[in-house]
Amino acid sequence: MTMLTPILFFLVFSIKMISGADWCYQSQMTCNNTCSGPETWPVVSQHCSGRAQSPINIITRKALPVRLPPLQFIGYQETFHGRITNTGHSVQLDLPASATIKGGNLGVPYKAVQLHLHWGKDAGVGSEHTIDGEQFPMEMHIVHIKEEYNSLSEALRDRTGVAVLAFFFQESRTANKKYDPIVYALKDIKHPTNITTVKGVSLDTLTPPQSNMTNYFRYQGSLTTPNCAEAVIWTVFENTIPLSRQQLTAFCQIQFSNGMLMVKTHRPVQPLNGRQVYYSGGHVALVNTVLLITSVLASSGLSLHTEG
Ligand SMILES: *[C@@H]1O[C@H](CO)[C@@H](O)[C@H](O)[C@H]1NC(C)=O
Ligand SMILES: [Zn+2]
Repeated sequence: MTMLTPILFFLVFSIKMISGADWCYQSQMTCNNTCSGPETWPVVSQHCSGRAQSPINIITRKALPVRLPPLQFIGYQETFHGRITNTGHSVQLDLPASATIKGGNLGVPYKAVQLHLHWGKDAGVGSEHTIDGEQFPMEMHIVHIKEEYNSLSEALRDRTGVAVLAFFFQESRTANKKYDPIVYALKDIKHPTNITTVKGVSLDTLTPPQSNMTNYFRYQGSLTTPNCAEAVIWTVFENTIPLSRQQLTAFCQIQFSNGMLMVKTHRPVQPLNGRQVYYSGGHVALVNTVLLITSVLASSGLSLHTEG
């Protein structure tokens, strides 16, 4: 008894220490920082050790090809003024609920709530999902919830309550002007809880052209931050968004709550545990149709003018 008491006290104390501490990314963990890194997120929320967690490494050879109906983006072209914040873990832009998505085998329409990003350090690798082991410098998540729900927390109680569109970024030689409003806002949100407004953006300008959004991976997973709720239909687009090195690096000037630079804000990939990943390649079908028309025309003695 006398031997056990201090041990018990120590155990209870250390569990309390961990669960009481805020969660953090691996990059925030230092000798004198007791925050809860990805390995101990299950202590913060038991969902984080579930069997359908995100992100994942997508093995393209194992993705099942399917022809899903095209995704429809409604209200994506509308320009809006959005609140942008440093959440302490990411940069988040609030979105108007008038932006909705439907089709793409989602079942019901989903309305936009917010978008946020995950990145590396100084334009190095930082995406959450990987494709055949390849990690990209940054990944954007546009978070949508079923129209019937009033909040993200409400939607998280439904296994298919949330639909996240994920986009990878790739370093380009020239700046992507469409991202300047967000990049410029970063200097005003250096510290967690800082808020500013991004003026004159639309989801259309922040995503690839719609004709390039036909190829995507689909699987069932979770939030990639605590509470890690397994309530997300993931749509991971194959087409990337270009951003210059300078633009990518700008994200590293903002800070975590402990004053460290906000870098490597990505969770390690999680086990698939038998889940099926689907691949919908609308573009392939389109190319085939063009080839078919071309060959029909060619065989009937006509030619196609393909320039311009
Ligand atoms: C940002 O947050 C920090 C820390 O809370 C605060 O000191 C600073 O005044 C804020 N800046 C702005 C522009 O709100
Ligand atoms: Zn995310």
